[in-house]
Amino acid sequence: MNQKNWWKESVVYQIYPRSFNDTNGDGIGDINGITEKLDYLKELGIDVIWLSPVYQSPNDDNGYDISDYCSIMDEFGSMEDWDNLLDEVHNRGMKLIMDLVVNHTSDEHEWFVQSRSSTDNPYRDYYIWRKGKDGQEPNNWESAFSGSAWQYDELTGEYYLHLFSKKQPDLNWENPKLRQDIYRMMKWWLNKGVDGFRMDVINFISKNPDLPDAPNPDNKKYVGGGQYYMNGPRIHEFLHEMNREVLSHYDVMTVGEMPGVDVEEAKKYTDPSREELQMVFQFEHMDLDSGPNGKWDLKELDLRDLKQSITKWQNGLHGTGWNSLYLNNHDQPRIVSRFGDDEKYRVTSAKMLATFLHMLQGTPYIYQGEEIGMTNVKFESINDYQDIEILNMYQEQVIDGNENHAEIMQAIYAKGRDNARTPFQWDDSENAGFTDAEPWMKVNQNFKEINAKQAVEDENSVYHYYRKLIQLRKNHPIIVYGNYQLILPNDQKIFAYLRNYQSEKLLVVTNFSDDHVNFDLPEDIAFTANELLISNYEIQNETDDQSFTLSPYEARVYKGV
Ligand code: NOJ
Repeated sequence: MNQKNWWKESVVYQIYPRSFNDTNGDGIGDINGITEKLDYLKELGIDVIWLSPVYQSPNDDNGYDISDYCSIMDEFGSMEDWDNLLDEVHNRGMKLIMDLVVNHTSDEHEWFVQSRSSTDNPYRDYYIWRKGKDGQEPNNWESAFSGSAWQYDELTGEYYLHLFSKKQPDLNWENPKLRQDIYRMMKWWLNKGVDGFRMDVINFISKNPDLPDAPNPDNKKYVGGGQYYMNGPRIHEFLHEMNREVLSHYDVMTVGEMPGVDVEEAKKYTDPSREELQMVFQFEHMDLDSGPNGKWDLKELDLRDLKQSITKWQNGLHGTGWNSLYLNNHDQPRIVSRFGDDEKYRVTSAKMLATFLHMLQGTPYIYQGEEIGMTNVKFESINDYQDIEILNMYQEQVIDGNENHAEIMQAIYAKGRDNARTPFQWDDSENAGFTDAEPWMKVNQNFKEINAKQAVEDENSVYHYYRKLIQLRKNHPIIVYGNYQLILPNDQKIFAYLRNYQSEKLLVVTNFSDDHVNFDLPEDIAFTANELLISNYEIQNETDDQSFTLSPYEARVYKGV
């Protein structure tokens, strides 16, 4: 049985501040812009707000390259604005969690400025420096943003490791002094009153100390070395130490972003008795529409794969750890464009996907704009894209390589991170009400139909459907604490599952296709509905709980016994 906790009963809303709401007319979202919209979030039913990084940063990776952990990015406002935001969040009975980016800093962070200056500087060992191997990089690892993960630094004639951009040098967690500095900084924020952290690629902080070459059967220039830095040899020790020294002294929420984590590892990270973290963000379900060559290698989702993955995680963590539930964030394309239909069935399929996710066991995360069914964007010119991952990949594949422009653009349209980062669509006025100036990134031109003002006014909107889902979670403990049981594992269009809690049951049936499909409850499953909790269609005969026809992208949730 899962122990009850506030963070298990919460719904989290992620804000990407740069794209949320601009109040000072510079085309960039800001902290006061968030404060201005808190009532909107409260109305939606949000309990916890997660802020993507707002710290001082040269913005090579939009704030995920931090140059000062204890001050606010000028473009976003001041520490006073931030203090005010926190007060206003708390005044409304909500909580605020911060993004903690401690696998790497910016190369403009004072630690790195020192570290780079000489091999005997006291900060040298805060980062991962190595000599070259035969005039080449120390190993063959590839950066997540293309090219080598090593950058040569002329001043001292050594290379530093950067798993992300070369302006994001990796910190050396083997160094206990660095760890203590990080813990001090975390306490500083917690003492200011923050309610927890989302930890950026936190399972990368322990690297195999030998930093070996990755196997390279195809003789590529660089290859992913993930097996040597994901879930590395000291990771559990470090997180346990962080918990003991910092987290255990506060009543906070923690979620670790963890590419390459599997269920067995995730259990270790989230089992409360091990005192590490509460939740992880895993990526298995986000990788199902990629081929063997990674995210840009497009592949159609097979619903059976999604079932298998979700079921493994639901059952795997039940009773031990705790799941985070998400379909969107600032790194992922918009889910309605990805697993739904962003044209004819945009509203219906956005509601279906929300139902599928919010009825699972775990803490749901909503990414800004998801609640109004915002979609992917297609900019014609590569010059309208801003994301370093997209731009580096395009440079490598098309400008320096032989890939075809049109094909690469298709991949960017499907998977590019900027899909999630176009300005929030508040209303149908110029720039979607996001800013009075020229926005830092172009607005999606569908803002006249898709915007928050319209959604709040229309009681059949995606927004009001999310409100209802959140309300249901608050009124029915089975949604939070019930166990999970997949039904119809082989159906290619219907994703259906049962939840069980005490003497109650929930039947969740969702149609992931644009066809009419028949649902028949398998004979070995006993379920009698008492109530239809929610659906995205008008249902004529609400007592048909054993067998019915689903319309395109229909979703139904029945409560019963
Ligand atoms: C994961 C973050 O979510 C992503 O936006 C960022 O680029 C990398 N970590 C590096 O910090």
